[in-house]
Amino acid sequence: MFSLNRDAPVLVTGASGYIASWIIRYLLEEGFTVHGTVRQFADKQRIEPLQAIAEGAPGKLRLFEANLLRHGDYQAPMQGCQVVIHTASPFLAGRVRKPQRDVVDPILEGISNVLLSVEETPSVQRVVFTSSLATVFCDTKEVLDRPKGYFTEADWNIRADIDYHPFKFAKTVAERQAWKMAGAQDRWDLVVINPGLALGPALHRRQHSASIDFFLGFLRGRYRFGVPDLSFGFVDVRDLAMAHVLAATTPTASGRHILVNEVHHMQDIARILREAYPRKFFLPDQIWSGWVSYLLAPFLGISWAYLRENQRYHPAFDNSYSIEDLGVEYRPFEDTILEQAEQVLRDGMV
Ligand SMILES: NC(=O)c1ccc[n+]([C@@H]2O[C@H](COP(=O)([O-])OP(=O)(O)OC[C@H]3O[C@@H](n4cnc5c(N)ncnc54)[C@H](OP(=O)(O)O)[C@@H]3O)[C@@H](O)[C@H]2O)c1
Repeated sequence: MFSLNRDAPVLVTGASGYIASWIIRYLLEEGFTVHGTVRQFADKQRIEPLQAIAEGAPGKLRLFEANLLRHGDYQAPMQGCQVVIHTASPFLAGRVRKPQRDVVDPILEGISNVLLSVEETPSVQRVVFTSSLATVFCDTKEVLDRPKGYFTEADWNIRADIDYHPFKFAKTVAERQAWKMAGAQDRWDLVVINPGLALGPALHRRQHSASIDFFLGFLRGRYRFGVPDLSFGFVDVRDLAMAHVLAATTPTASGRHILVNEVHHMQDIARILREAYPRKFFLPDQIWSGWVSYLLAPFLGISWAYLRENQRYHPAFDNSYSIEDLGVEYRPFEDTILEQAEQVLRDGMV
């Protein structure tokens, strides 16, 4: 069985990301040496927040350049690592112009590249893969077919394809490939994290993650004319990051883990923000229905097909395995929203 060596470095791919930067912060606080990969050293916006996280922390951070699309890039950063946490992936907001190029290729070539390097690196004994709820189900309506009325780790997305939800399709193929490669050998084991939509304060001011874009939409008045009738499973980015650290360091950890704290309607976010900041933002006060939703959804990058299969349905999840297997502690959704609002205001992002 996997036995943790606290002196061995931990590799975190996609180090500059919204989730990865919290993972790195927690690992450094625990004294680990972290090897982080970024796409470009030249981009100060990506590097400086990571340097700030590392400053004064008990652990050490070493950065490497690596691209998911370049074969062999992960070999050097993986040297000597016992644990690999693979978070890197495009996570784009709105409609993707070229799904194959922008989403499918980086996700599928990325998982192959990283796992082929794992195969060639004898020190690696555990891989933690940031998958998604996107691999658990395709559309919220499917919850009606679940025998117990909620999604569990036993569920898989079997409906997405390259034309319908290319991101969900690619993540599903990638996670299946990871399980297949893990099952074909016995030197390293695989632990998968399947998060819902992550919100909460960021450790940088970049806005590329679809999560951050979604949240900023409320404060920037994107939904001033109302919100679609959509509900999502949410998780705080800090709880999610800690789940990765627990997955990396708990010897007995195994399998898939749904990471969702609470399910909320988009309007709940508006309500929490309105109560905390009366009249400060142009927040939505109505939920679209009928033909209005079909008329307005394309302005938010939402397709009619998506609307048909998701609006009005309320998803439900069993998150008990994340608590039992990893010991995840979830914080209240309201704290997540209010603390993210404080961060984006403090950092002048709205
Ligand atoms: N945020 C959520 O709500 C959520 C929910 C479920 C699953 N996830 C998963 O969590 C992971 C991280 O998401 P996030 O929200 O932290 O997104 P993010 O902030 O956009 O981070 C993604 C990271 O992946 C890197 N990346 C993208 N394309 C790359 C490429 N071709 N080569 C190398 N690196 C590349 C990015 O590098 P650059 O900085 O160079 O762009 C960035 O560091 C993803 O796997 C996503 O699928 C996220």
